[in-house]
Amino acid sequence: MKRAIVPGTFDPITAGHVDVIKRASLIFDDVVVAVAASVKKNPLFDQETRVRLCKEATAEFANVRVISFDGLLVDLARDYDAHAVVKGLRAITDFEYEFQMTALNYELNRNLETFFIMSPPKYMYLSSSIVREMASMGGSLTGFVPACVEKELRAHFSEAYALAEKHGSTNIK
Ligand code: COA
Repeated sequence: MKRAIVPGTFDPITAGHVDVIKRASLIFDDVVVAVAASVKKNPLFDQETRVRLCKEATAEFANVRVISFDGLLVDLARDYDAHAVVKGLRAITDFEYEFQMTALNYELNRNLETFFIMSPPKYMYLSSSIVREMASMGGSLTGFVPACVEKELRAHFSEAYALAEKHGSTNIK
């Protein structure tokens, strides 16, 4: 049984994350999407909501489950008997930070390998903060996030969307 953990804050999960999770699910037998508390990042959505959205967005993948965690990734990997971590790599800017985290995790647990799945060009520019910013201004999210996330963001930023519609924004699809 080859088990991998796909960790992240997922605030919220984007189409880029779903792409990484889907591709991981084709390689590994069991994929655990681990939604971190990431308190320091002061997330827009609470952990429960982020977990729910991840579950809805990945429901079609039979070997994927979603859990929440708060603590060290290496401890989570040990608890779940996972020897692989899968992360998405979008651009060169991601590399330095990912390199640091991977090296640290490797020092903490030599049995834990980190694998990177490169984002396709269409998701290279995508990030949760860009999605949050677009939503806060009532922008169209179609294609950037799963439908459940779009619904949640439109509800959260309902005033911005109402304003954008009133002004006939070209962003509204
Ligand atoms: N598609 C779209 N966006 C992606 C992406 C992809 N494939 N891959 C990463 N991102 C984006 C996220 O959307 C997020 O964007 P934002 O900053 O604009 O919101 C950004 O990359 C960072 O993602 P995040 O999920 O916060 O991951 P991270 O790389 O900061 O790591 C944890 C988060 C939870 C994996 C990490 O903090 C961790 O392991 N925590 C546990 C504590 C621990 O063990 N610490 C020591 C580790 S060295």
